Amino acid sequence: MNPVLELRALDEAALVALARRLAPALDGGAVLHLRGELGAGKTTFARALLQALGVGERVKSPTYSLIESYRVGARDLHHLDLYRIADPQELEWLGLPDLADPAALLLVEWPERGGMLLPAPDLVLRLGHAGATRDLAIEANARGIALLERANLLRRA
Ligand SMILES: Nc1ncnc2c1ncn2[C@@H]1O[C@H](COP(=O)(O)OP(=O)(O)OP(=O)(O)O)[C@@H](O)[C@H]1O
Ligand SMILES: [Mg+2]
Repeated sequence: MNPVLELRALDEAALVALARRLAPALDGGAVLHLRGELGAGKTTFARALLQALGVGERVKSPTYSLIESYRVGARDLHHLDLYRIADPQELEWLGLPDLADPAALLLVEWPERGGMLLPAPDLVLRLGHAGATRDLAIEANARGIALLERANLLRRA
């Protein structure tokens, strides 16, 4: 996947604003991987995105449950946090085949722990600590690039 966008020194408000801007472009299904060390802002981004999509205040961190699923209108939204997974095989127990629904939106924290059972991402967001703020690098496949263009985060080639 190609790095397509790099943003530096985002404070929390800027990260939330970015999630809100991306949300309307995700009206079809999409798979987003959220990478970055502990406390990098993955849940903050996912929560802002889910809230912008209509989940409202009920977004919980899936740190212990591994997955929190929401239905908004006819859409399935799944927020996973695989930090506590010891073996990618545990994903089968989670019912991952349902997650392969191309119309669903998947937000996955710690995707590197999911191994090959996880659907391939359209967008990979890599968050890193930068003092009190965060740097963000985004990688995208062709579908992810189209999403970023729709959100006006990337200029059309
Ligand atoms: N862009 C930002 N700038 C400064 N602080 C931020 C930013 N984004 C999130 N934070 C703060 O960083 C802390 C950790 O955020 P968050 O829980 O989203 O991280 P995480 O990547 O999900 O961590 P974990 O790996 O433990 O799940 C929170 O206190 C949050 O308010
Ligand atoms: Mg988190």
